[in-house]
Formats: sequence, C-alpha cells, structure tokens
Amino acid sequence: MECEKQYKSFQAAGLKLDMSRGKPSPAQLALTNGILTCLSEEEFQTESGLDCRNYGCLDGLPEAKAFFAPMLGVKPEDLIVCGNSSLNIMYWAMSLAMTNGICGSKPWAKYDKVKVLCPVPGYDRHFAVSQFLGMELVNVPMQADGPDMDVVEKLVAEDDTVKAIWCVPMYSNPGGVVYSDEVIRRFANLKPKAEDFRIFWDNAYCVHHLTDNPPKQLCLLEEARKVGNADICYMFASTSKITHPGSGVAMMAASEKNMKYLKNALSFSTIGYDKINQLRHLRFFGGKFENLIEHMKKHQALIAPKFRIVVDTLNRELGGLGIAKWTDPKGGYFVSFDQKGCAKRIVQLCKEAGVVLTGAGATFPMGVDPEDENIRISPTFPTEAELQKAMDVFVCSAKLAAVEKTLAE
Ligand SMILES: Cc1ncc(COP(=O)(O)O)c(C=O)c1O
Repeated sequence: MECEKQYKSFQAAGLKLDMSRGKPSPAQLALTNGILTCLSEEEFQTESGLDCRNYGCLDGLPEAKAFFAPMLGVKPEDLIVCGNSSLNIMYWAMSLAMTNGICGSKPWAKYDKVKVLCPVPGYDRHFAVSQFLGMELVNVPMQADGPDMDVVEKLVAEDDTVKAIWCVPMYSNPGGVVYSDEVIRRFANLKPKAEDFRIFWDNAYCVHHLTDNPPKQLCLLEEARKVGNADICYMFASTSKITHPGSGVAMMAASEKNMKYLKNALSFSTIGYDKINQLRHLRFFGGKFENLIEHMKKHQALIAPKFRIVVDTLNRELGGLGIAKWTDPKGGYFVSFDQKGCAKRIVQLCKEAGVVLTGAGATFPMGVDPEDENIRISPTFPTEAELQKAMDVFVCSAKLAAVEKTLAE
C-alpha cells in the first residue's frame, strides 16, 4: 500500500516536531523584543505622574485601561488591567464564584452540583478550570456562527444549577468560529434561571486576524447593557499572542455592579499588578491602539503562510476523498480537523513518526470526544519547512487511519 510505504519512510527519517500547543514562533516573539528596552532607568512614571515602581493602583494604570478598552470594545471604566495571564483571571473569577458566590449570591460550591456549558470542540484549559473546581461540564454543539443558541437558551432557562458558559467569540479555539451578531444578541438577551449565571467571554483572539478585511463584531457588554442585562457577562483578553506570552498584560471587563464586587474581592489577593509591565506596553505601542493593530499585521505576515501550508496540504492530499473535513480559519491560532473514529489513531501514528500533536479528545470536556474525530492543528510555532514535513506526515497518517478503519469494518 502506497501510504504505508510512505509512512515507513517518515518513521525512518527520525523526525522530531512538536505541534502540541499554539505558541508564537521565535520570529513572532522577536517582533516585540523592543519592549524589553523601551523603558529607560528614569522612566517609571505615567503621564499623570504615578510611580509604577510602587504599590497601588489595584485595577491597573488609568492609561492602560484607556489603551486596552478598544480591544474589548468597552469603556475604560469597565476594564481592569491585570498581570500576564488571562487564564489566571478566568480561573480566579470562577473560583471566587465557587467560594464566595457572585455579587452576594450563594457560593457555587455550596450547591450539590453546579454546571458549566462547554461549546465543543473548545479550549481544553477552559474545561480543565471548571473540572478542577468541581463543576459538571455539559457539551453544547458548536455551529458555523457560534454555539447552538437554542440549546444554550433552553439549558440556562430551565436549570438554576447551570451557572456559566465558556465562549471564545472571535476565532474560537480550535474551530476559528466567529460568533455572528445574532448569536451575540441572543447571549446579551439570555434569561437564565440562576441570577448568578455568568458568560465567561474570552476574547483571546479578537485582534489576531489572518486576512486583510477582518470581521467586525458586536460588543457583548454593550449589547447586554442596551437590554438591561449588563451583569450577564465577564469578558477577558490578553496580549499573550500580541507581545510576549510569558510577560504580557491581561484584562477583564464587566458591568459596574460586577466590577464593584470583583475589585473588592481582588483587593484581598493583591495590592496591585505589575504596573511597570503595563507602562512598557503603553510605551512600546506609543500609547496608540492603532499601533497595536499595525503590529498584528506583522504577526499575520509571519503566520498566514503557515496556515496556507496546512490548509493547502489538506486540500491537496485529502480533498475529495470524503474521509475528513477541516477549517480554513480567518484568524486565531488553529486549524480544526475532523475524521470520524480516527482522531486517536492519527495522533498516535503521527507521534510514532516523530510529530507530536495536541492529544486527541483534548478539545472536549474530560478529554472525551464522543465521535473520536477532532484534532487541533497548531501551525504557528514550527518553521514553514518543519510544518510542511509535519503536514506530510499528518495527511499520510490520516489516509492510513482511514484504510485501517475501513478494513476493520
Ligand atoms: C482561548 C484562549 N484563551 C486564553 C488563552 C491563554 O491566555 P493567557 O496567555 O492570557 O493566559 C489561550 C491560549 O492558548 C486561548 O487559546
């Protein structure tokens, strides 16, 4: 069999490629090296004279709030600017709900059972946060324009133990789905049975476009405000894949009532985040949000060709065979690939030929993909040459897995 022969030759080549996580490449990281030296020894004050070296300013520099507010499409006063990880504040906000409730509600941990809705396929670390905190994870199917809102509306309206939903509204991880305006309005209008239900709206990829005419998206908080439902959501973002993931800036936005509650709770865990790093970000971008958008075009120039390699290889080698389907995302960090009953085997075959992928099942709660079909492909980290090799192994493994499955049937 041709693909078996080819697979053996890949194994003999002794490849060693790691595509297990969506990390920026060294070339992308280098785009932001200027941030390491953009502050001189004398520059530790903001325009308003605040000394960033010292304690204080719990919710972030006022200048940083004004700078980052357009990223989430909110007003500066809706935002807090935090440390280097948005996952960290998502974890904090959910764990706070477990221990102390939300704005005075009964702590979630005091219920026998609380549930979180998980659009699938989705981001493994979101699901892991809720699982770790003891929540029950409920799959919700993802569609081309966002989660299936008929399902979401029904579940939140009927069951007051449904307390939250995870959403990545722009270029979802891994599907690259951009939630439509209609879906966002339906989220804004949700009428949950539980008054302490919150949408965890993680806009991690809101400026991570792969095309020159990116989609525009409504702001959930503003839409919710219009219909008197502003407290329904917590929104998050970070500069992890804009500047440096190890030393970026994360932010959270929410209604006035939510913010009052959150800031008070936050004051027990920190006196203030790293303001020097916030200042560094302001200086690196010259305080202008347009410069951040321009900076993202440099990322696009480096990674869009890599996405092309992945999608072109899949189209060329698997197109028309009817064994698999995949996305051609307009932004974000992933290509989502589906081949029914074969995901585990493909990941295993790739591994045995030296290409490590994200584990099969990782995109589903508890690591259980009911159809064993989804694989998250992360094209950004390897060089183009490495990526092409990895994709050659991938498509060969996909064909081999399809043949094995047919023979077994
Ligand atoms: C959807 C999503 N949210 C959050 C993160 C992590 O964000 P941070 O680095 O700000 O913690 C990732 C990283 O892959 C992600 O894909």
